[in-house]
Order: sequence, then C-alpha cells, then structure tokens
Amino acid sequence: MAVLEANQVTKQYRMGEVTIKALNGVTLVVEKGEFVAIMGPSGSGKSTLLHLLGGLDGPSGGEITLAGRPLSHLSDNEITVMRRRKVGFIFQFYNLLPTLTAEENVALPLLIDGRSLRQYQEKIDGLLKLVGLNERRHHKPEQLSGGQQQRVAIARAFVHDPEIVLADEPTGNLDSRAGTAVLELLRRACTELAATIVIVTHDPRAAAYADRVIFLKDGLVCRELRREPAGGPAGFNVQPIMTVMAELEL
Ligand SMILES: Nc1ncnc2c1ncn2[C@@H]1O[C@H](COP(=O)(O)OP(=O)(O)OP(=O)(O)O)[C@@H](O)[C@H]1O
Ligand SMILES: [Mg+2]
Repeated sequence: MAVLEANQVTKQYRMGEVTIKALNGVTLVVEKGEFVAIMGPSGSGKSTLLHLLGGLDGPSGGEITLAGRPLSHLSDNEITVMRRRKVGFIFQFYNLLPTLTAEENVALPLLIDGRSLRQYQEKIDGLLKLVGLNERRHHKPEQLSGGQQQRVAIARAFVHDPEIVLADEPTGNLDSRAGTAVLELLRRACTELAATIVIVTHDPRAAAYADRVIFLKDGLVCRELRREPAGGPAGFNVQPIMTVMAELEL
C-alpha cells in the first residue's frame, strides 16, 4: 500500500524578478513499512521535496497524496490537521522546545492534537526506553548532548503513530557514533513500530540503512537503488551507493 505519492511535483520560488526552479517534476511512491533515503547535491531540491511531502508547503504543480488523500483537495486547515496526525518530523538541529523536558517534548504532538496524555503515558514511556533516555526524561534540551536531543526528537516523531516520518539530515549535526545510534533507532522503528520513514542525507553510510535510495539532481529523480533481495537483512552495502554518487559527481 502506498503511504505517500508524489506525481509530477514541481516547485518554483519567486524571488522578486527571479524564479528559482527547485523541483521540476518529481514522481515517487513510498510504500507502507519502507525506509527510503533521498540523496543529491546541495541545492538539488531535497529539503524542498521533504517539506512538500509533509505538507509544510504546497507544490507549484503536480499532486502529493498522503495516506490516500490528495493534498490539493484539502483546505489549509485540513492539511494542518493531516500533518499533525499523519506525519512525524525530525530535523538536523532537533527543534526541541528549550523550556520543556525530554518527556514533555516527546508528548508535544499529542498535546497539539488535543489528545489526553494519560492514555498515552505507556506509549511515551515505551518510546523513552526505546531511545535509551528513560533516565533523562526530566532533563531540558540544554542538559542533553546533541545525540540525546536527536533521540528525543525521534521519540517525538513517533509518539502519535504517524503514517510517515520525514527526516532532513537527521545525522548532519552529529559525530559518527551518535549518528549511528540515530540510524539504528530509525531502522528499529521501521521494523518494530512498522513505521514508514523517508530521510534526506549526504552520507552514504546513512543511506545504507534504507531499503531504497532515490537520487535527486536538478529537481528531478535521476537514479534509484533498491536493496536486493527484498526481505533480507535490512540495509545496503555502502559500495553501490558510493558508485552512483561517483557517477553523479556527488
Ligand atoms: N524558501 C526559499 N526561497 C527561495 N528559494 C529557495 C527556498 N528554499 C529553497 N530554495 C532554492 O531551491 C533550491 C533547492 O533548495 P533545497 O533547500 O531544497 O536544496 P537541498 O537539496 O536541500 O540542498 P542542501 O543539500 O544544501 O540542503 C535551491 O536553489 C535553493 O536556493
Ligand atoms: Mg536541504
């Protein structure tokens, strides 16, 4: 089943007299339970695409369908509700609220959606344990390391059982050890929570955790690698990803 579809999606940014063509007709499908990585040179439109896929911004042309609903048929308000309920976001710089504890940050998507926390305490506890931060639950972000903050952000992204989790350079600000911990968690979330995940990354070792790698160039999908055989152990060998990167001069 497709959780997310982009059909001939374009995006132009107007900057005064100048029009920047960020996406030039991207078509892709993300199936339920997939872990997809998007790679491509700086400026190729990766972040733009992720924003559009999550309904943070609207396309100039084409259609995005999230959980079976074409976003162009929805009002701004309906898209906001869709985003709250169906999407989890993870950002490069964590984007935690500094005044809230780790636990409160994890609970935030539930509060924003008007759900009562009581019913979700078990879920929150389970996620804090999954990301290894049960002992740090009362810490504020400034009392946590970068890797720990990103693990809070991961728990937050999954707390409301979203249809899809979108992550823009989730390891971009972390050293390799903290980055590996984040990727292993995302991989586990995919398996254990039956989550569907799309990450943007520059790092072939990060992309190697995915089931499929989509390469963007000049606002278009130019290559795709699929893990073979499907259903085998999760993740790629880094080598085929490096080969395509070299071909594309990434
Ligand atoms: N809000 C905006 N207003 C105007 N132009 C924008 C805006 N956001 C992105 N762009 C332009 O659109 C193009 C694609 O940008 P985008 O941020 O999607 O690239 P990216 O692949 O994520 O790059 P990076 O790897 O550096 O993060 C770039 O040319 C960028 O300058
Ligand atoms: Mg970007």
